[in-house]
Amino acid sequence: MKIQTSAYWVNQFSNNSKINRIDWTLKPEISEPEKQNILKSLQAWQLGETSEGTHLINASKKYAKSINDEEYLEAVKLFIKEEQKHGNNLGKYLDLISEQRIKKDWGDSLFRKIRYFNTNMELWTIAVITVESAAQVFYQALKDATNCALLKQICTDILIDEASHITFQKERLYIIFNQKSAFSKWVSYHAYSCFFICTNLIIWFAHKKLFKAGKLNFSRYMTKIWFKLKKVTGKVVLYDREEVFKPAMNMNEVL
Ligand SMILES: [Fe+2]
Ligand SMILES: [Fe+2]
Repeated sequence: MKIQTSAYWVNQFSNNSKINRIDWTLKPEISEPEKQNILKSLQAWQLGETSEGTHLINASKKYAKSINDEEYLEAVKLFIKEEQKHGNNLGKYLDLISEQRIKKDWGDSLFRKIRYFNTNMELWTIAVITVESAAQVFYQALKDATNCALLKQICTDILIDEASHITFQKERLYIIFNQKSAFSKWVSYHAYSCFFICTNLIIWFAHKKLFKAGKLNFSRYMTKIWFKLKKVTGKVVLYDREEVFKPAMNMNEVL
């Protein structure tokens, strides 16, 4: 796997933040039946995208120091900013259609609790990569569930950002994974898959109304999830040896 430097990601996220892909002069045009199908999920994801990211920043600070790569922290901060942009845009849309930005959701509360106790970079990375993969399926379904041009543009913008987020996190997971012993790798590989599938099953049950409106039934949803699992934490990805391994070399130097 090709591993980019943290400087590359700082540059990538900085450049992306200057691109505006949403025409806010468009009026939201969402029908009542569409709203019935998507509103609850839209509100829940809007809340989920608005986290301060304090715990992730703390874990990244500790990790960046341990691998002697201060720019990694900068990249994570910019990555969090992009997530907050998603939350702001979805919030702005809710305001425009005169619907509430919610303050509490069981899924969000559960994920916040997990984040609160987590200071380990590996756990953070697998958690984020799982949610990012679910986000790609979710926002594509949301886009397909509406005819509102403005909402479609918001989804497209998020989908473009999420593609980079997944690559960014996938590289980190690969680096962490490849510092393990053969046995730990075996355990981690299975733990990643289990976490990924279970989380995405929960997401299906929480948002199935929206997925169905976006023309995804359970079997199509699981096919997509399976494909994404193979793409981000599959054996071919994690055990790939054809890599530019700069950050890991830094780690070896520190050790
Ligand atoms: Fe996001
Ligand atoms: Fe993301």
